[in-house]
Amino acid sequence: MKTLKPHHHQLSTFIFILLFPFLKSQTARQQNNTGYTCPNNNNNNNNTYPCQTYVYYKATPPNYLDLATISDLFQLSRLMISKPSNISSPSSPLLPNQPLLIPLTCSCNFINTTFGSISYSNITYTIKPNDTFFLVSTINFQNLTTYPSVQVVNPNLVATNLSIGDNAVFPIFCKCPDKTKTNSSFMISYVVQPHDNVSSIASMFGTSEKSIVDVNGERLYDYDTIFVPVTELPVLKQPSTIVPSPAPRGNSDDGDDDDDKSGIVKGLAIGLGILGFLLILVIVFWFYREVLFKKEKKGKGLYFGDKGYKGNDEKKKKMDVNFMANVSDCLDKYRVFGFDELVEATDGFDERFLIQGSVYKGEIDGQVYAIKKMKWNAYEELKILQKVNHGNLVKLEGFCIEPEESNCYLVYEYVENGSLYSWLHEDKNEKLNWVTRLRIAVDIANGLLYIHEHTRPKVVHKDIKSSNILLDSNMRAKIANFGLAKSGINAITMHIVGTQGYISPEYLADGIVSTKMDVFSFGIVLLELISGKEVIDEEGNVLWASAIKTFEVKNEQEKARRLKEWLDRTMLKETCSMESLMGVLHVAIACLNRDPSKRPSIIDIVYSLSKCEEAGFELSDDGFGSERLVAR
Ligand SMILES: *[C@@H]1O[C@H](CO)[C@@H](O)[C@H](O)[C@H]1NC(C)=O
Ligand SMILES: *[C@@H]1O[C@H](CO)[C@@H](O)[C@H](O)[C@H]1NC(C)=O
Ligand SMILES: *[C@@H]1O[C@H](CO)[C@@H](O)[C@H](O)[C@H]1NC(C)=O
Ligand SMILES: *[C@@H]1O[C@H](CO)[C@@H](O)[C@H](O)[C@H]1NC(C)=O
Ligand SMILES: *[C@@H]1O[C@H](CO)[C@@H](O)[C@H](O)[C@H]1NC(C)=O
Ligand SMILES: *[C@@H]1O[C@H](CO)[C@@H](O)[C@H](O)[C@H]1NC(C)=O
Ligand SMILES: *[C@@H]1O[C@H](CO)[C@@H](O)[C@H](O)[C@H]1NC(C)=O
Ligand SMILES: *[C@@H]1O[C@H](CO)[C@@H](O)[C@H](O)[C@H]1NC(C)=O
Ligand SMILES: *[C@@H]1O[C@H](CO)[C@@H](O)[C@H](O)[C@H]1NC(C)=O
Ligand SMILES: *[C@@H]1O[C@H](CO)[C@@H](O)[C@H](O)[C@H]1NC(C)=O
Repeated sequence: MKTLKPHHHQLSTFIFILLFPFLKSQTARQQNNTGYTCPNNNNNNNNTYPCQTYVYYKATPPNYLDLATISDLFQLSRLMISKPSNISSPSSPLLPNQPLLIPLTCSCNFINTTFGSISYSNITYTIKPNDTFFLVSTINFQNLTTYPSVQVVNPNLVATNLSIGDNAVFPIFCKCPDKTKTNSSFMISYVVQPHDNVSSIASMFGTSEKSIVDVNGERLYDYDTIFVPVTELPVLKQPSTIVPSPAPRGNSDDGDDDDDKSGIVKGLAIGLGILGFLLILVIVFWFYREVLFKKEKKGKGLYFGDKGYKGNDEKKKKMDVNFMANVSDCLDKYRVFGFDELVEATDGFDERFLIQGSVYKGEIDGQVYAIKKMKWNAYEELKILQKVNHGNLVKLEGFCIEPEESNCYLVYEYVENGSLYSWLHEDKNEKLNWVTRLRIAVDIANGLLYIHEHTRPKVVHKDIKSSNILLDSNMRAKIANFGLAKSGINAITMHIVGTQGYISPEYLADGIVSTKMDVFSFGIVLLELISGKEVIDEEGNVLWASAIKTFEVKNEQEKARRLKEWLDRTMLKETCSMESLMGVLHVAIACLNRDPSKRPSIIDIVYSLSKCEEAGFELSDDGFGSERLVAR
C-alpha cells in the first residue's frame, strides 16, 4: 500500500504534465475569443442572417432564480422563456441549475474592415456597482459571451473605467444554420461544461454527434460556446416538484393556467383574502381623501401634468428642499449638466431647436440629446425614471437644476426618428409597413411589460399614445414622457390627466389608476397602427368607440371583410398576412373592454403579439399559410 500511493501520485503528475499543453491552449483560446465570425457579404448571404436562435441558460443563485430577473437580463417577457423551456407557471421561482431555453435573434454584425463580422445577439446591459466585463460575461451571462468580445463591440467603453449606468452591448454568441448545407432549423448556443463530452451533449439536445462536430470541430474546450444544430426544440425535463410560488399576487396576470386544481383553490382563497384587504384599504383611502384631502387639494395639483408651478412662496420653498434631498439620491447615477451647457446646445432654447412641447434638441460634447424644460414638478418623473431601465423606454441621461427661474431640465437620449404619431398621421415620403408596425407594437408591449411587471412598485404610465412613442434609427419603439406616470397602483385620483381619445372609461369616470388603463390606451395605439386613423376624427368621433361598433360581428369572414375596408390604405399596397392583422385586431379589441378586469394583462398581450409577429414573418419568407392582400 505504502509504495502504491507515491506511485499513484507520480502517475497523476505525469498525466498532468501530459495534459498541461492542452490546459494552456484552452486558456489561450479563452483569452482571445473575440467572437464567431460570419460571412457578411450582404448581397450574397442567402438570407442566413438574421435568424431565430436559442441559448441554453441555467438558473443560478443568488440573483437568477426567477424568470422575471432572467427575462429582464435578456430583455424578454417571462412567457417568451417559459414556453420554449417547458415551464408551466412563469411566476414560480426556479431551482438552482434548472435549465432554460431563451429565444434570441441572431445577427451578423460588421465590426471593421480588418476585423470582419461576428455573429451575436445584441443584449444591452446597464453597468451596476462592482461590474466588470469579465464578471458580467462569466457570471450573469454564464460564459455565453467573453470579455474580449464585449470590448470589441463596445469600442467607446474603457473596460478599466466603467461608470455605473453605462449601457454596454453584451454580444451573446450565436450562429445561424446555413440552409444550403443543413436541414436543421436553428442552432442552440451552449456553453461546454467540464463534465461534458460530445455524446452527452448530443443526447441532451436530441441530435447527432456528427452534426455537432460538423459545426464545432472535434475538440471541445471548457466554457467555450458551441452551437448545437437541431431540427426542433428539445423538450427540457423540468423538475416536477416546483416550490410553490410565494404569496400569489392579487391579480391573475401570470397566465399560469396549467396549475393543478388545489393550487387554484388555494390561490383563490388567498386572492379573495387580498381582495378583502384591498377593499378595506380603498375604504380607508376614500375616507382619508374625503376628510383630509380637501384641505390640501390646491397644493396637490403641482405634482401632476405639465401645468406648471402655481403654489405660493412658502410651499415652493418646502418643495425645493424636498426636491434637492430626494434628487441627491440619484446624483451619482446621472450626469448633472450645467445650465450654460444646455443654453449653448440649444442656442438659448431657440425655437429652431424645439422638437415639440417643451422638448429641445441639443448637442453636447458631440452627443445629441433631447432636453425637456420643466418647472419643479420634475421630481415624480425623475423618481420613476431612476427605477426603470429598459431598451423600450427612453433613457434619461442626466438633468440640470436652474434655481433662479426654478426650472429643472431633464436630459434624455435623443431618439432619431421622432414620434409614431408623426409617422402615422403626418405627411412622410415613407410609410410604415406592416412588419415594422407589428414590431413597434411588440416593442411598446415589452416596455409596458417591464414597467407593469418588473418594477416594484409597479409603474403606470398613464399617458400612452402615439405621440409618446418614439422610433429610433432602426425603427424600434421606445416609450417616452413619464411626466404623468405614477408608481404604485390601485390608487384613486381626482386629477384626471391624460389625452382625450386614449383615456380609459374607469379612469375618466372614477379616477381609478391601474395598469389596465395603460392596456386600454395601448389598445388604441394598436388601432392607430392598423387603421392609420386619428384617435378623434374631424367630426369628433372617437376611434375606439367606432372600432368596437365596426367589429361587433361574430362572423369571422365578415370581420375580415370589414377589417380590409378599415385598414390603413398604404398597407393595401404591400402583401401582408391577414392572419397577423386579425390577430392584432383581436388583441386591440380585447384591450378596449369596458371592464378593466376583462382586459388582457400585458403578459398575455406580449405573448399574443409575438404570435402575430410570427405569422407576419412567415409571409416574408414564402407566403405560406397566409392570405395575401393585393392592391386594387
Ligand atoms: C487566438 O489565439 C490562437 C492561439 O494562441 C492564435 O492562433 C489565433 O490567431 C488567435 N486569434 C486571434 C483572433 O487573435
Ligand atoms: C447561396 O446559395 C447558392 C446555392 O443556393 C450557393 O451556390 C452560394 O454559394 C450561396 N452563397 C453563400 C454566400 O452561401
Ligand atoms: C447590434 O449592435 C450593434 C452595435 O451596437 C449595431 O451596429 C447593430 O446594428 C445591432 N444589431 C441589431 C440587430 O440590432
Ligand atoms: C462592491 O465591492 C465592495 C468591496 O469589495 C463591497 O463592499 C460592496 O458591498 C460591493 N457592492 C455591491 C453592490 O455589491
Ligand atoms: C465561466 O468560465 C470561467 C472560466 O473562464 C469559469 O471559472 C466560470 O465558472 C464559468 N462560469 C459559469 C457560470 O459556468
Ligand atoms: C478593428 O477592430 C479591432 C478590434 O476592435 C481593433 O483592434 C482594430 O484596431 C480595428 N481596426 C481598424 C482599422 O479600426
Ligand atoms: C474615466 O471616465 C470618466 C468619465 O466617464 C472620465 O472623466 C475620466 O477621465 C476617465 N478616467 C480615465 C483614467 O480614463
Ligand atoms: C435534408 O433532408 C433531405 C430530405 O429529407 C435529405 O435528402 C438530405 O440529405 C438532407 N440534407 C442534409 C444535409 O442532411
Ligand atoms: C460522456 O459522458 C457521459 C457522462 O457524462 C459518460 O457516461 C460517457 O461514457 C462519456 N463518453 C465518452 C465517450 O467519454
Ligand atoms: C415537461 O416537463 C415535465 C416535467 O419534467 C415532463 O414530465 C414533460 O414530459 C415535459 N414535456 C412536456 C411536453 O410537457
